[in-house]
Amino acid sequence: MKKLKITVLAGDGIGPEVTAEAVRVLRLVADIYGHEFEFDERAVGGVAIKEAGNPLPPATLESCLASDAVLLGAVGAPEYDGLAPDKRPEAGLLALRSALGVYANLRPAFSYASIADCSPLRPEIVRDTDMLIVRELLGGLYFGQPRGFFKNADSSSGAFNTMCYTVAEVERIARVAFAAALGRRRKVTSVDKANVLETSQLWREVVTRVALDYPGVMLEHLYVDACAMHLVTTPQRFDVVLTENLFGDILSDEAAVITGSLGLLASASIGEGRGLFEPVHGSAPDIAGRGLANPLGAIASAALLLRYCGSQLEQEASDIETAIGAVLDAGYRTPDLVRGQSKTIVKTQDMGSLVAEALLKTTVNARPAYV
Ligand code: IPM
Ligand code: MG
Repeated sequence: MKKLKITVLAGDGIGPEVTAEAVRVLRLVADIYGHEFEFDERAVGGVAIKEAGNPLPPATLESCLASDAVLLGAVGAPEYDGLAPDKRPEAGLLALRSALGVYANLRPAFSYASIADCSPLRPEIVRDTDMLIVRELLGGLYFGQPRGFFKNADSSSGAFNTMCYTVAEVERIARVAFAAALGRRRKVTSVDKANVLETSQLWREVVTRVALDYPGVMLEHLYVDACAMHLVTTPQRFDVVLTENLFGDILSDEAAVITGSLGLLASASIGEGRGLFEPVHGSAPDIAGRGLANPLGAIASAALLLRYCGSQLEQEASDIETAIGAVLDAGYRTPDLVRGQSKTIVKTQDMGSLVAEALLKTTVNARPAYV
């Protein structure tokens, strides 16, 4: 029996709808396995700006810091598009990542056989794709100082950001990637732009040195433009993809969509202590509140929460993943997963119930003791 305190930050747009389904599945896991999960719901992003004038109110941060894990939906709303970067809903998420010290963002992207037809690529190209993107999450252009807008004396103006990495920052994320590769197909593709950027030259040098500690893992280096190209031509060549913050942001959206839908992808952000778990998709304001959102990315993020949060509930995590696969195999689809063929289209909540039912079946079959 494990006790977990989980702060739930549903956030903006489709965040609340998909997070509700993830929480439903977590409650069921607690029932089935006899764990005690306590949920504390707090505001983040646009809703927090509305409620408290701050995208990460102190009460939210306190709850996150006092919990074992944080489950987040999505942040961002078009009404805040005109605000400076540090006032926007996204600033709340970045401040939270930084406060939690979660420097490693793990984004597994694999293609479920039953939805290979949902990829914009031909099924034979995406089949068997199974990669883990390890994105550095607390450095690079997202956090580099100085940054800002400027005006010159002649009244011309501009803006600038700083890309900066220390050796220690590259080393710690590289170790996460190599350690992950040991449990997978033992290949790391490190992605940089070392033909142009100093930060990338440092990145390549440090990653090459760290690789010496993992002789069983094969290391290759790719420039980010070539990586973007290989992702759509030969995605199966990738096992673990290790890259810096902005490159990882871009490549993970690309990887997600080629495996079927951005709505499916989950992420775990880990580092020093408690983790932050969120689907890779955004707040999708255009479909919010209509039951059209795909909750599978959020539910899969709940699985990662169980796998990576200190207590390492691996069986529970893989049971959720099996349940998701079973629901897709049975032909149920949210609208983002429908391409051509006739399938059973379901709403966000129905998809959540289907996963819950499948989870009950999986666990009952595997463990008669729980009946
Ligand atoms: C992501 C998102 C965030 C990021 C935004 C919402 C700040 O795109 O998690 O990929 O850029 O990291
Ligand atoms: Mg992104």
